[in-house]
Amino acid sequence: MGENFNLNSIIRENIKKLKPYSTARDEFKGQASIWLDANENPFGSPLHHHYHRYPDPKQWKLKDKITQIKGVPPQNIILGNGSDEIIDLLFRAFCTPGKDNVIVMPPTYGIYEVSANINDIEVKKVPLTMGFQMDLDGIAEAIDENTKLIFICSPNNPTGNSLFREDVETLLANFKGIVVVDEAYINYSQQKSFIQELTEYGNLFVSQTFSKAWGLAGLRLGMGFASEEIIEVLNSIKPPYNINQATQDLAFEALDNVSQVNEWIQQTVLEREKLVKALVELPFVQKIYPSDANFILVKMDNAHQVYLKLCEKGVILRDRSQVEQLEDCIRITVGTAQENKELVRYLAELAL
Ligand SMILES: Cc1ncc(COP(=O)(O)O)c(C=O)c1O
Repeated sequence: MGENFNLNSIIRENIKKLKPYSTARDEFKGQASIWLDANENPFGSPLHHHYHRYPDPKQWKLKDKITQIKGVPPQNIILGNGSDEIIDLLFRAFCTPGKDNVIVMPPTYGIYEVSANINDIEVKKVPLTMGFQMDLDGIAEAIDENTKLIFICSPNNPTGNSLFREDVETLLANFKGIVVVDEAYINYSQQKSFIQELTEYGNLFVSQTFSKAWGLAGLRLGMGFASEEIIEVLNSIKPPYNINQATQDLAFEALDNVSQVNEWIQQTVLEREKLVKALVELPFVQKIYPSDANFILVKMDNAHQVYLKLCEKGVILRDRSQVEQLEDCIRITVGTAQENKELVRYLAELAL
């Protein structure tokens, strides 16, 4: 266990003193036939039979099923209204506004910075190197006594590559705050997830999501994995019923479809490689960055114009050409075989 890490020393003072909200469903556990404790409508719901009841605040039934797939015990899991909610909870639990700071490594997922700004937390940017890997010396220099979180996105959005495992381990072993490893795209990656390392590092927080490989972006369900102590702090500050009953039910059902999800992952990886092969043939494509995710970053001549031309055709890509270090880059999500074929056809037409 990282001896450098003392959870108590990084929890915000107001959170340490907090008396969490206790729901009606937290206070009574057991069997009952008459529920008159939560001001619900006793007659039922116009929709599903149990929607007139508040959902389980800790989502135990769903977490038990996640445990079967991920191998992480339920008490080490927090669920959020998307992983974006979980990121926000990390700020609210550990970062004191106007005082603390966090480290992010651009170009990366934009929400870390936005969430920091909303919470009035300073963002220290340590850009990724030319090969889009971590600059460990730069990070060591940036860390000060008020640095509470380091955000690592691996595979990284929008560059697509995985970050070196040894570098993540170096940070885990030495950083006195929490290392957040965002694994939204881990299902598409050659790399192992860090969730196996939770018992090794008390300062590790891994986030994953149902929005990508699981095909449930519309439900809004994110997963956080960490020590029981970290999860308890986050549970104490989350909105009590943050995962609605419909999402809990549907995600529970979806978890029976592991083989379908694995098939989609294989197909996506296959399509990704086909797409790369087709794109390198285009004369205006300068570079395709190696991807471990379900998208690829492509550098091309006049990227912004290409983006606009494709919009005219009804094909929407993610224009990243104005982002520092990503000049003339477009991020392309890997679609179905048919979608990718059409994309390549439209791009080829531009080359004529
Ligand atoms: C790296 C990364 N993390 C998290 C998310 C958001 O996940 P969720 O839909 O669970 O909020 C995204 C979405 O694009 C992402 O790219």
